[in-house]
Amino acid sequence: MDLNKYFSEKTELINRTLKELLPGEEEYPQTLHRAMHYSLFAGGKRIRPILVLASAEAAGGEASGALNIACAFECIHTYSLIHDDLPAIDNDDLRRGRPTCHKAFGEAAAILAGDALLTAAFDMAARSGGKRSAVTRCVIEMAKAAGSTGMIGGQMIDIESEGREILFPVLEYIHIHKTGELLLAAVKCGAVLGGAKKKELDSLTRFGKSIGLAFQIADDILDVEGSPLEMGKNAGSDEKKGKATYPAAIGLDESKKRASELLEIALHSISGLDGKADPLREIARYIVERKR
Ligand code: IPE
Ligand code: IPE
Ligand code: MG
Ligand code: MG
Ligand code: MG
Repeated sequence: MDLNKYFSEKTELINRTLKELLPGEEEYPQTLHRAMHYSLFAGGKRIRPILVLASAEAAGGEASGALNIACAFECIHTYSLIHDDLPAIDNDDLRRGRPTCHKAFGEAAAILAGDALLTAAFDMAARSGGKRSAVTRCVIEMAKAAGSTGMIGGQMIDIESEGREILFPVLEYIHIHKTGELLLAAVKCGAVLGGAKKKELDSLTRFGKSIGLAFQIADDILDVEGSPLEMGKNAGSDEKKGKATYPAAIGLDESKKRASELLEIALHSISGLDGKADPLREIARYIVERKR
């Protein structure tokens, strides 16, 4: 299959739906809506919403039935990036090939744009068509993945661990929570909306856990050896801040080995699914091999 084509088709669909679901860029208060659009439509990879759609298809459903939830994941993710870049968190200047939201709009607008995107995510998710029980389940999964026992919990420990020696289980906690949980939830929600049976949901859950952790290991590796031009964000920032990363803990080679092992586990987890899961297989490979 042609992954580039798959990505560009799905990205177009996601971007169009996001524009339909969110207030327009010039709607009052303009500063807020401009800041939201600025960060959202800056050319992110759209991995999380694409995972929702691909997982719905892998479970035998239609991508169109999962679009609102897919877009909700992208709003949560973009909000997390805006806040992650703030001076009080990672203090970064470049994101998605542009000055970070707070550099372009100021800290107050960036904080508020993040707040508004998080809120909008739950609005669009709740308005999703389809079986109410499936939608409710997705909203619960999203909240858990994004909240204090998910992504934000991971962000908290990430910050508290800066410049400190930490034990490996703490590093794992950080990565699984700050990044893995949202990717896992995207896969699970897609599966639920696609009508997955228990066995398929279990397989896809194992798949989501593996690619979720692999995604952050790959992100750490890119921070060491990636190109800022390709990534659209600066490299070397983890070392500068003394971040808890896989390369810092176990070295680059071991980190790459760990990412490849997780890819194998992910692929093995869904070996029982048919050709409709091929996009998921390709996305998993991309997550580990990507340059951006
Ligand atoms: C970056 O996420 C932040 C992490 C959770 C590692 P992505 O690499 O998916 O960033 P975009 O969405 O493509 O900009
Ligand atoms: C980001 O991890 C995780 C979240 C935004 C929740 P990083 O801090 O490593 O992401 P980048 O490298 O800034 O994209
Ligand atoms: Mg961070
Ligand atoms: Mg960061
Ligand atoms: Mg990083």
